[in-house]
Amino acid sequence: MRTRPLKVALLGCGVVGSEVARIMTTHAADLAARIGAPVELAGVAVRRPDKVREGIDPALVTTDATALVKQGDIDVVVEVIGGIEPARTLITTAFAHGASVVSANKALIAQDGAALHAAADEHGRDLYYEAAVAGAIPLIRPLRESLAGDKVNRVLGIVNGTTNFILDAMDTTGAGYQEALDEATALGYAEADPTADVEGFDAAAKAAILAGIAFHTRVRLDDVHREGMTEVTAADFASAKEMGCTIKLLAICERAADGASVTARVHPAMIPLSHPLAGVREAYNAVFVESEASGQLMFYGPGAGGSPTASAVLGDLVAVCRNRLAGATGPGESAYAALPVSPMGDVVTRYHISLDVADKPGVLAQVATVFAEHGVSIDTVRQSGKDGEASLVVVTHRASDAALGGTVEALRKLDTVRGVASIMRVEGE
Ligand code: NDP
Ligand code: HSE
Repeated sequence: MRTRPLKVALLGCGVVGSEVARIMTTHAADLAARIGAPVELAGVAVRRPDKVREGIDPALVTTDATALVKQGDIDVVVEVIGGIEPARTLITTAFAHGASVVSANKALIAQDGAALHAAADEHGRDLYYEAAVAGAIPLIRPLRESLAGDKVNRVLGIVNGTTNFILDAMDTTGAGYQEALDEATALGYAEADPTADVEGFDAAAKAAILAGIAFHTRVRLDDVHREGMTEVTAADFASAKEMGCTIKLLAICERAADGASVTARVHPAMIPLSHPLAGVREAYNAVFVESEASGQLMFYGPGAGGSPTASAVLGDLVAVCRNRLAGATGPGESAYAALPVSPMGDVVTRYHISLDVADKPGVLAQVATVFAEHGVSIDTVRQSGKDGEASLVVVTHRASDAALGGTVEALRKLDTVRGVASIMRVEGE
């Protein structure tokens, strides 16, 4: 074993960074044996230098992250600050000064992954980010390496723990969205500002990263269709139950049937209770990968939290350190397929539509005609009503999102349709 240590600069020492530092210290001997050289924490960049940080030598703490990455003798920079800047500049500076980078920053990788990979390539360094998608769950490396010989057709997953906790609470207790969000906040699952989670931004960033790797194609954050879960109601869960389904916020990345394009989207959807993703409870994450040769694979585990996320960061750190000792780099960006990313209108799936209608002769026929005129085939219709008003629940066969959108627009124009109470996609069948 080499005795000269590999030097690691830790940028950020919060929820994730503090656990990375702790494991680096407590598992130092094992890490050294696995890497083939000891790893040494050479500096820890933070915003508040005076904060007490258990297990961290105060002499290592600095507020000058730029000086740390420019030091010249750093082998690996671990970026767990988050956000776009200064993380982006620090990462590119790290490459320019000879370091490889491990990051947990999904927002940055989703937005600027291509440019960051190019910077890593230019300097012959690694950029690894297993922790950026689904915390502890090994997903990036299986997609990038283990499935490199297969053809991935679909990635379907729950990649946001906060929203899964909220939806699970709504399902199991009958609570409304706000009540479930309040519980998630009180238990520390939801952040004070939960927008990134509940509006689907966090999941969309993860979907962009997954789709890019799965389909060897650049998928930008703007390419991902995004709908949050704040509009999901207790009534939607009641409808889902009647269909033998539950509701999850799903990230879905698909290759088109003809293989010529891909789509990526995040939205709430009904899934059958028999689907393995329906049983993913609380703040857990799970991702289903469907590939040509392997068939269906499922990855499950904690998608957030300091220690689970640090596990993924440390796995990357070991891999990157091994590469450095070997004088090599691991796989970089693979975007050779360059498939076009189709708009949401091209996505084909099933829909559950809940309408408030007048309960009088001919209304059902009128509604059915609108579906037929837009080429959307009805699978089931359920009606319940009283006092001249009715609730109509229509479940369709597979149709394009564009056709469904046209149908709903036309339904809204009917005098007999008082309102469209909810539209939800049905997935996983
Ligand atoms: P925290 O907010 O807990 O920690 C951020 C750290 O960065 C803090 O130590 C903070 O310093 C430091 N910091 C902030 N700005 C600067 C700056 N300009 N210069 C130097 N240091 C700075 O974030 P998390 O640990 O939760 O998240 C880190 C990354 O990991 C993010 O990209 C996040 O998306 C990702 N991630 C997080 C998960 C989780 O469960 N928390 C799960 C998966 C990924 P100070 O301590 O002084 O405030
Ligand atoms: N806010 C994210 C979640 C953290 O709830 O899953 C992990 O990326």
